[in-house]
Amino acid sequence: MNARTQVGIVGAGPAGLVLGRLLELQGIDSVVLEDRDRDYVENRVRAGVLEQGTVDLLLEMGVGQRLEREGLVHHGVELRFGRRGHRIPFDELTGGRGITIYGQQEVVKDLIAARLESDLPLLFEVDDVRVEGIEGDSPALRFRHDGAEQELQCDFIAGCDGFHGVCRDAVPDGVLSLREHDYPFGWLGILARVEPSSDELIYCHSDRGFALHSMRSPELTRLYLQCEPDEDLDGWPDERIWEELRARFASDGWELKEGPIVEKGVTPLRSFVAEPMQHGRLFLAGDAVHIVPATGAKGLNLAVADVRVLAEGLRRWYSEGDDSGLRAYTERCLRRVWHAQHFAWWMTQMLHRMPDDRDGFFAKLQLAQLEYACSSRAAATALAQSYVGWDGTRELS
Ligand code: APR
Ligand code: PHB
Repeated sequence: MNARTQVGIVGAGPAGLVLGRLLELQGIDSVVLEDRDRDYVENRVRAGVLEQGTVDLLLEMGVGQRLEREGLVHHGVELRFGRRGHRIPFDELTGGRGITIYGQQEVVKDLIAARLESDLPLLFEVDDVRVEGIEGDSPALRFRHDGAEQELQCDFIAGCDGFHGVCRDAVPDGVLSLREHDYPFGWLGILARVEPSSDELIYCHSDRGFALHSMRSPELTRLYLQCEPDEDLDGWPDERIWEELRARFASDGWELKEGPIVEKGVTPLRSFVAEPMQHGRLFLAGDAVHIVPATGAKGLNLAVADVRVLAEGLRRWYSEGDDSGLRAYTERCLRRVWHAQHFAWWMTQMLHRMPDDRDGFFAKLQLAQLEYACSSRAAATALAQSYVGWDGTRELS
């Protein structure tokens, strides 16, 4: 392997792989290091909602052919509460914008295929990655691969290694401010081999707790139930899951289609932001620096937005010797990150049953917010604009 590269990328999730592709298109060398095997990263089931801007970027990068064929374009979502559905029409409220349903692991598969097709370095099953020298001009990544110790000299390091990665910890103590919030609930998610019961996503508020109807394809439905953050799956045989889903989604004239469950898991809901997102020659992106609760499906979109800003900063640096884009990295990204963080928190607190809501005060507030979001054009537009993706453009002076 080439022991020197321009950008060393740690992590082959959406952040690392999109960055690698953007750099390739700009003629900048990179090496991607991933600690899991290819099969694992290609099959890990995650969220599946792509903002319009994310779709446009994947198409521009030449990795959107299958996405165009198989992605499901949605022009709205349903908010269901009090046993009734209310549609938020994204296209009408946001000048024709929408979202595309396409699993994150499908995006990852397409990006890996494109990188291998271009014959660019992507190393799986790399062990013990260490980040060194980020405060100087020539940082390095040390790691073990195929049993041998390796050293990769870099101009810059991109820490795209997710929340549990090693890059964030390479920043010296006292530099990062960490802000976090753990929500008092999680999601029990299933993938079922059955046709979706609705053409669009359904975010459902009920007195038994939140439920979400999503999908992956015309044959695969993705469903979630609010549960305890550490819920034990052993207490949830398939029949109990369907029973609970039926009860929460109950609405006149609507029926939940059921089929074999092919995947089951519990995800806690949390918010986390570390800032600044850069220290010396190390740039952190995606889940390595921010986690959003899944309620707004912003995680992948934020990861992609970060590396887009980073790739543009690196382009300016390499082609014009101008470091202004790199210096502005944290500020540019955080504007969007904190907006998404607020949106995801807002959706979460509006839709989930709050523990200790003894006299139902919070439930009443939630219903008031939901009524407003579905009745007022201004409120529905705010929801739609954030859902399809807000890039921080200042429209008011
Ligand atoms: N060395 C190399 N690779 C690592 C290391 C390490 N020490 N630690 C973690 N990784 C890898 C993980 O195995 C994973 O493949 O880094 C990758 C990080 O990818 P993601 O967790 O998918 O994070 P990111 O690319 O930022 O994408 C964010 O992922 O969690 C979802 O909802 C989130 O959709 C969002 C997206
Ligand atoms: C999903 O399809 O996995 C999904 C959809 C919407 C969300 C979160 C997850 O808000």
